[in-house]
Amino acid sequence: MVTLRLMWGLLVLCVVAASPRRYVRQAELDNYDNNNVDLDLNVDSDDVYDYYDGIDEPQVRESFKNFGMTPFFAALLSINEYCMGTCMLCTCLVGSVYCDDLKLDHVPPLSKETTHFYARYNKIARIGKSDFANLNKLKRIDLTSNGISRIDDDAFFGLPALEELVLRENGIRQLPALPPFMTLIDASLNQLGSTGIQREAFKDMPRLLYLYLTDNNIDHIPVPLPDSLRSLHLQNNNIQMMHEDTFCNPHDLNYIRNALEDIRLDGNPINLSRTPQAYICLPRIPVGALI
Ligand SMILES: *[C@@H]1O[C@H](CO)[C@@H](O)[C@H](O)[C@H]1NC(C)=O
Repeated sequence: MVTLRLMWGLLVLCVVAASPRRYVRQAELDNYDNNNVDLDLNVDSDDVYDYYDGIDEPQVRESFKNFGMTPFFAALLSINEYCMGTCMLCTCLVGSVYCDDLKLDHVPPLSKETTHFYARYNKIARIGKSDFANLNKLKRIDLTSNGISRIDDDAFFGLPALEELVLRENGIRQLPALPPFMTLIDASLNQLGSTGIQREAFKDMPRLLYLYLTDNNIDHIPVPLPDSLRSLHLQNNNIQMMHEDTFCNPHDLNYIRNALEDIRLDGNPINLSRTPQAYICLPRIPVGALI
């Protein structure tokens, strides 16, 4: 009987947590009228709010612990944790969470099983260091077209599985530190200026294939670039200079950078004809002004 009540309680909690505040209030009222719904799990409504806001997750779990939860119910709760909020608001499919175009103003709480997270066309303004904390399986984050202007520097750095990060169409001025096994970085259409990219930001990314930084205000090519890189898109920036060692090694004429076959520098105030020796190791000459 107790088990049944507890499960019923969790189910109600799941629905309640996923709904806007008024439903929480309604559930509370219902609860006073109906003793069969045993929501008295030591979780008060403020905890539910906090949980929904993704701020105080441990607090909720602590409450359950105080109530004397067995490991079985703890496991049940972690399943419930997933259905709470995020998967009712967004679409969850195996490890993928799709939250496109939902007017979100913050990253919703994500399950530790999340591998792909999409929140395109929302109103997220800031990425905090706890938004993606402990998501050890997260491989792809796509935050295209939000209003992101600030990203905490350690917001993504601790994600060991992260490979693809898409931050297109935001107002980002400073690219945060990124973990080493990135394959794709797209920060096009932002406000990255001369100090927007950290020194040697891409140097230790041995798997990086695609680096897209078009339509910013970048005034230099972010060297050194890893040998793995295939595509470098820097069109519509403010790059004026190229050096002979930007892509190649002037001291080793046998050095060939086979992978880098797609360099875009059009839309920059640079004259590629000035540095003819800079492309000798490349399979193809960069696209850009040659006069
Ligand atoms: C571009 O560089 C070439 C080679 O140095 C030079 O002949 C040409 O005049 C330059 N064009 C412009 C617009 O500066």
